[in-house]
Amino acid sequence: MAYNLLKGKKGIIFGALNEQSIAWKVAEKAHEEGAEIVLTNAPIALRMGTINELAEKTNAQVIAADATSLEDLENLFQKSMEILGGKVDFVLHSIGMSPNVRKGLDYDELNYGYYHKTLDVSAFSLHKVLSTARKMDAINEWGSVVALSYVAAQRTFAGYNDMADAKAILESIARSFGYMYGRSRRIRINTVSQSPTPTTAGSGVHGFDKLEDFSERMSPLGNATAGDCANYCITLFSDLTRKVTMQNLFHDGGFSSMGMSYRAIEQYEKSFKDCPE
Ligand SMILES: NC(=O)c1ccc[n+]([C@@H]2O[C@H](COP(=O)([O-])OP(=O)(O)OC[C@H]3O[C@@H](n4cnc5c(N)ncnc54)[C@H](O)[C@@H]3O)[C@@H](O)[C@H]2O)c1
Repeated sequence: MAYNLLKGKKGIIFGALNEQSIAWKVAEKAHEEGAEIVLTNAPIALRMGTINELAEKTNAQVIAADATSLEDLENLFQKSMEILGGKVDFVLHSIGMSPNVRKGLDYDELNYGYYHKTLDVSAFSLHKVLSTARKMDAINEWGSVVALSYVAAQRTFAGYNDMADAKAILESIARSFGYMYGRSRRIRINTVSQSPTPTTAGSGVHGFDKLEDFSERMSPLGNATAGDCANYCITLFSDLTRKVTMQNLFHDGGFSSMGMSYRAIEQYEKSFKDCPE
């Protein structure tokens, strides 16, 4: 059911690669809720993914932009304002990539060139997006920027590797820029810390299926799906959350507040019986 929460609003959505992508679901919901959007992704993702299907469904134009390139970002904001007929009201940053994770290099043996790339793509890109938008005055007052994060920013998850560092920086950028942009232009900036979600980026994490299962069992409400995440992002783009800024908002069925569950105790007892030593 649609509520017209974004009627009259314009936005830019980064990171829809395929139907599994969280950004894909956000784009669909934003369209359903009455927003006009521009879709963007890295040039290689436009070639490899299926974004044109989404563009057709959501009546959106697609503009290529590598989110680490200031030149591409400037072009993206310029063209988006031309297409949408003015400044935007919301931006979704749904971008993540670690060459170290892709190559299976462990955290204690990182390739530093790759490490830099991880941070540039997954964290500094948010700074670049915000800084470009601010210089070009491309976001309307009371606009909203949301970036996607993961609880590995606060706690250690084996296999999440250098992406944990990227998420910690991403959340910090949301706070620091949230202060600057909030004070000068009343723009709000938040991160949404989402449950493990079976997407191209998510499934690339070593042991993802176990992590997803563990998280599902530990969360009183179960894992949040990409569709659930889209619903939450829409509320953050809407006028109903105007005074929410500089927050890392957990959207994870309660996982981040759990310590030990009854299910985990039972499982622990079973494995303890099997191996008494
Ligand atoms: N899937 C999960 O379990 C999960 C959990 C919490 C947070 N997140 C975060 O959600 C966000 C979206 O990921 P997803 O799970 O939908 O996976 P996804 O693979 O569908 O999306 C990642 C996107 O990042 C884009 N990207 C990579 N390099 C880029 C660049 N240089 N410039 C522009 N775009 C670039 C990719 O093309 C892709 O569209 C990421 O920030 C991810 O870390 C995912």
